[in-house]
Amino acid sequence: MIYFQSIIPGMPSNGQTNWIEVDLGAIRHNVRRLREISGVQVMAVVKANGYGHGLVEVGQAAVEGGAKWLGVARVDEALSLARSGNPARIMVLGYTEPERVGEAAMHGVRLAVYDRQVAQAYALCAGEAGQVLHVHAKFDTGMGRLGHNLQDGVEFMRWLSEQHALRVEGVFTHLAEADEPEKPTTLQQLSKFDALLAGLNDAGLRPEWVHAANSAGTLYFPGSRYDLVRPGISIYGLQPSDSAPLPEDFRPALSWKACLASVKTLPPGHGIGYNFRYYTSRDERIGVAAVGYADGFRRRLGNFALVRGKRVPVVGGVCMDQCMLQLDAVPDARIGDEVVLIGKQGESCILAEEIGREWGTINYEVVCGLLARVPRIYK
Ligand SMILES: Cc1ncc(COP(=O)(O)O)c(C=O)c1O
Repeated sequence: MIYFQSIIPGMPSNGQTNWIEVDLGAIRHNVRRLREISGVQVMAVVKANGYGHGLVEVGQAAVEGGAKWLGVARVDEALSLARSGNPARIMVLGYTEPERVGEAAMHGVRLAVYDRQVAQAYALCAGEAGQVLHVHAKFDTGMGRLGHNLQDGVEFMRWLSEQHALRVEGVFTHLAEADEPEKPTTLQQLSKFDALLAGLNDAGLRPEWVHAANSAGTLYFPGSRYDLVRPGISIYGLQPSDSAPLPEDFRPALSWKACLASVKTLPPGHGIGYNFRYYTSRDERIGVAAVGYADGFRRRLGNFALVRGKRVPVVGGVCMDQCMLQLDAVPDARIGDEVVLIGKQGESCILAEEIGREWGTINYEVVCGLLARVPRIYK
């Protein structure tokens, strides 16, 4: 990262007013640890623009950390990775329109299949394109989302194996509650999956790659690791949930920062922002940070940020591109100061998990909700 001297004396600048810093070393480290912990191959899940961290850059770092596979949700994400020259095997975990199959197969992208009619369309499209499509059959062991039913599982796999333009490389399922390890449902899902695998073994239909574990499965359910694990949130150093925390040495990769654009003292009774959702009660130092809801900072009361290592409240409503800070705790704050929304500053820290709790959601949604216009800067 290049820092210039800003025109404000003593103030370093990267030329941005609002930006995300991604520590790719943290991603490499976390993936390496997941590989060690699981003892099997890792499919790093980098869908949704690498959970907001950046698709291509995270994909590259994950491979450097030892991931041999990358998982995405959409075929366009897979093609972007393939075109970036990433050497990993790339798999689309979600639905793909049959008309994209030829293109996917041409780039060696693996697709999920869980429905006979759709799989038939895939076989047709791959055949027409003169390609063989690698597929992983997905089974619903309890999540109630994508997945073929278990009852005709062996029959479905046999039928798939007979489609000339398809090569059945994997079989997988997804865990609904592994982030609540105290609940019995994950073991119930795994035992149903094991029964299917036993049937496939007997029929000589067990493919090379069996996988089930998301981050929480990888960390808390050794029986879910099979041949390959599919961690997402943990590669970013974020925990699956409060009841499924990460090992201590995992490192969050993302920080979100903005510049302080204005600092001034306003007299008592002064309204702040649209519809005056805050009034000063005395002379108050009010700052303006260059971050708003069009960056992903939620338009709600009760937000906070770090300035000069101190936690300060956001006051008034969050605007599209800006928000106001109450700076009484930092009398030396000045224009150009770094405002931290997620990450560390001095001894203070704001975690995505904490914001998730404040916003009534989860850390996943916080980082995936950081909008495209915020530049990502890689370290
Ligand atoms: C099919 C599938 N596998 C793996 C993952 C990774 O999950 P996590 O981010 O909880 O590790 C996801 C994420 O939603 C998923 O949909």
